[in-house]
Amino acid sequence: MDRFLVSGGARLAGQVEVSGAKNSVLKLMAAALLAEGTTVLTNVPDILDVTIMGEVLRRLGCQVVRGDARVEITVPARPGHEADYDLVRRIRASIAVLGPLVARCGQAKVALPGGDAIGSRGLDMHVAGLVKLGASVDSEHGYLIARAPQLSGASVWLDFPSVGATENLLMAAALAKGTTVIDNAAREPEIVDLCSMLTDMGARISGTGSSTLEVEGVDRLHPVEHATVTDRIVAGTWAVAAVMTRGDVTVLGGRTEHLEMPLDKLVQAGAEVSQVAGGFRVQMDRRPRAVDVVTLPYPGFATDFQPLFLGLNTVAEGTAMITENVFESRWMFVNELVRLGAEVRTDGHHAVVRGREQLSGAPVTAHDIRAGAGLVLAGLVADGVTEVSEVSHIDRGYEGFVDKLTALGADVRREPAVEEPWLS
Ligand code: UD1
Repeated sequence: MDRFLVSGGARLAGQVEVSGAKNSVLKLMAAALLAEGTTVLTNVPDILDVTIMGEVLRRLGCQVVRGDARVEITVPARPGHEADYDLVRRIRASIAVLGPLVARCGQAKVALPGGDAIGSRGLDMHVAGLVKLGASVDSEHGYLIARAPQLSGASVWLDFPSVGATENLLMAAALAKGTTVIDNAAREPEIVDLCSMLTDMGARISGTGSSTLEVEGVDRLHPVEHATVTDRIVAGTWAVAAVMTRGDVTVLGGRTEHLEMPLDKLVQAGAEVSQVAGGFRVQMDRRPRAVDVVTLPYPGFATDFQPLFLGLNTVAEGTAMITENVFESRWMFVNELVRLGAEVRTDGHHAVVRGREQLSGAPVTAHDIRAGAGLVLAGLVADGVTEVSEVSHIDRGYEGFVDKLTALGADVRREPAVEEPWLS
């Protein structure tokens, strides 16, 4: 895999444009399955996950044509119903085809993403919800197999406001017979985006943006053209980068109303955040102050920002407590930060971060998208060179990351993977 070589010390300054949200577009692509014909998505980010999701749809019999920030998906009258392990294991989000396929084809066979099983943490709420809507769901040979000649509306109470379960159930309920009520639903802007596309397709949804969604099923939906909401996590990444490097960055396309908590934390850290035409601007002229963070479902502080704020606190003045409530194993990244000289201790859901003046460049590994971005930002405030390997994780979520960083004044290079002859 390629790696990034990040030379620390630059102050980021200038403008950066934010593309459409990965966490939205993948579900919008799945939602296209609900209607025969050609759905057009715009403001589509040029990232690896969109390519993989496109392949999932192609193998279901759809025609998928990528253009400049757009994707056209032509869905046949009778799409296939199987999503293979070789694709699903690469993006967990491909589980989003489960709901639409059962609703549209009466059956779905979708590989379990690694580590998940019926009843265990991971997909239990997706499964329980579909069962409430009248589907039978079994797990066989590493696949979830759902069948329902006709889904029927029902009341579903989610134990936790799961983003993925809310989306799968929304899409399934859109074509179910009767009314479905999803209580304790997730409220993320990406869910609102999905509701808005489904509504344009002819779905009857009320309560959009609230934790109770009511869906009155219809017989059929029609294809639409829809612009993907901008990526709040990417926008927030640029804001954190500006603060860490004591820079001045204007985030075009960034929507402050989707970023209230993280931007407020950056202000507490000492930044100035202002609304400007087409986005917002983040200015910082001092070492950041430590800020505590507690992750929660939206509108709480997003777990996807946790690695970025943990990174910020490693160079802040003071000590911060980071509490992770959404995902259990999101601390792998800490070992990499420690390689850069960070002072972090974890205990259960908590990490205590003692800030230091500067980190020290070293080779590190990106284990997931946000941790990967967090390591690049840490490299920007480390002395010497930080070599981030396995950057295909970063490619999954950040469009043109190196080019955008370079345009803001960072010294970052992409290097092709090095052959290791001793391995052959
Ligand atoms: C989505 C986002 C991810 C973000 C997360 C939380 C995408 C592609 N990914 O992931 O970036 O970090 O929301 O905001 O949109 N859980 C269960 N049972 C279930 C479903 C979930 O126990 O049936 C647990 C998960 O293991 C996890 C927590 O609930 O601990 C949150 O999961 P969920 O909100 O579903 O996240 P995703 O949709 O997977």
